[in-house]
Amino acid sequence: MDLKNNLQQLKDHVSQQIHDAKKIDQVEKIRVNLLGKKGELTKLLKGLKDLPNEQKPVIGKLANQIRLMLEKSIEDKKKDLNEAFFEKRMDSEKIDVTLPGRRPEIGTKHILQQIQDQIEDHFISQGYEVKYGKEIESDEYNFERMNLPKDHPARDMQDTFYITKNILLRTQTSAMQARSMDQHDFTKGPLKMISPGQVYRRDNDDATHSHQFHQVEGLVVGKNVSLADLKGTLQSLTDELFGKGHAMRLRQSYFPFTEPSIEVDISWNLVDENTAPEDIDWIEVLGAGMVHPNVLRMSHLDPNKYSGFAFGLGPDRFAMIKYGIDDIRNFYFDDIRFLKQFKQVGE
Ligand code: PHE
Repeated sequence: MDLKNNLQQLKDHVSQQIHDAKKIDQVEKIRVNLLGKKGELTKLLKGLKDLPNEQKPVIGKLANQIRLMLEKSIEDKKKDLNEAFFEKRMDSEKIDVTLPGRRPEIGTKHILQQIQDQIEDHFISQGYEVKYGKEIESDEYNFERMNLPKDHPARDMQDTFYITKNILLRTQTSAMQARSMDQHDFTKGPLKMISPGQVYRRDNDDATHSHQFHQVEGLVVGKNVSLADLKGTLQSLTDELFGKGHAMRLRQSYFPFTEPSIEVDISWNLVDENTAPEDIDWIEVLGAGMVHPNVLRMSHLDPNKYSGFAFGLGPDRFAMIKYGIDDIRNFYFDDIRFLKQFKQVGE
C-alpha cells in the first residue's frame, strides 16, 4: 500500500513541477530526476520485488501508467515551451513591410563627363567617329607629327611630364590627328573624327589653369574642306551647347600644325546686338585652323588634293561657361557638395 501511495504522491508532485516549469532545461532536469538511473521513479520501482505476489501486477501496471503519463506531459510541456519561444521570437523580429525602405544613394556622372557626352552626341549626330587615344604618348605623335620637331620653340608652351626621353604624358589630343589619318582609308571618303580625353601640362594651377585637364580634338580631312566649314561647325556646336545668347569670336593665332590658325572665344555673359563690345567678357575655349600641309604630307596625303580643319576644345572651360563656374579647380577637388549640383535630368 505504501508503494501505491508513494507512486500517487510522486505523480502529483512531478505533475505540479512540470506545470510550473518555465524553461526547457528545467523540464529536462525533471525528466532526469524522475526517470534517470538514479531517478525517483526508478528508485520506487525497485521496491516492487518486495511486494506480495498478487499485488505485483496491479502496482506494476499502475507504475507503468504513471510513467507513461508523466513522460507524455514532459514531452508536451517541452513542445509548448518551444512553440512559445518561437512565437515570442517571431513577434520581436517582425518585419513591417509597409515601412518605406532606405534608398541607396546613386551617384551622378561627373559634370565634365556630362559635357563630354553632350559634345560627343553633337558630333556623332553629324557623322563623326569618336576615337579615344592614350594618355601616354610618344614624342613622335604628340609633337613631331604635329610639325613640332625636337628643337621647335613652340614646344616651350607645352612642357609636360616625361616618362622617358621619347615617352610622355600627352600635352594635347592633337596626337590623335596623325594616328587617325594613318588609319583612315581615304578612298572611302573623308575622315571626320573627334577624340576626347585628358591631357597634361606643366602649368601652375590657378582659376583657369590645371596641370591636367580635358580636350576634345576634332579633325575633318577630305576634298575641298574649307575654313568656312570650320566656322560653321564650331558655330553649330556652341549654339547647341550654350543656346544662342553667347557670342563667338574668332581671333588669328598660331599653331605649328595649322595654317591659318585661329583661337575662339565665347562670351561668359549673354549678349545681343545692343551689347557694347566693352561689356562682353570673353573666355578662350578652343584653338583651331586648317591642317598644315606638312602634317598632311607626313600622313602621306597630298596637300594639293586634300585639305582639312582641326580644332582642340576645352570641355572644362565649356562647363565653366555653361554653368557659371568661376574656378576650374572645382572640377578636381571632388567636393561632393559641388558635384551633387549637377544631377542629370532623370537621375
Ligand atoms: N592642340 C592645341 C592646343 O592644345 C589646340 C589645337 C588643336 C589647335 C587643333 C589647332 C588645331 O592648344
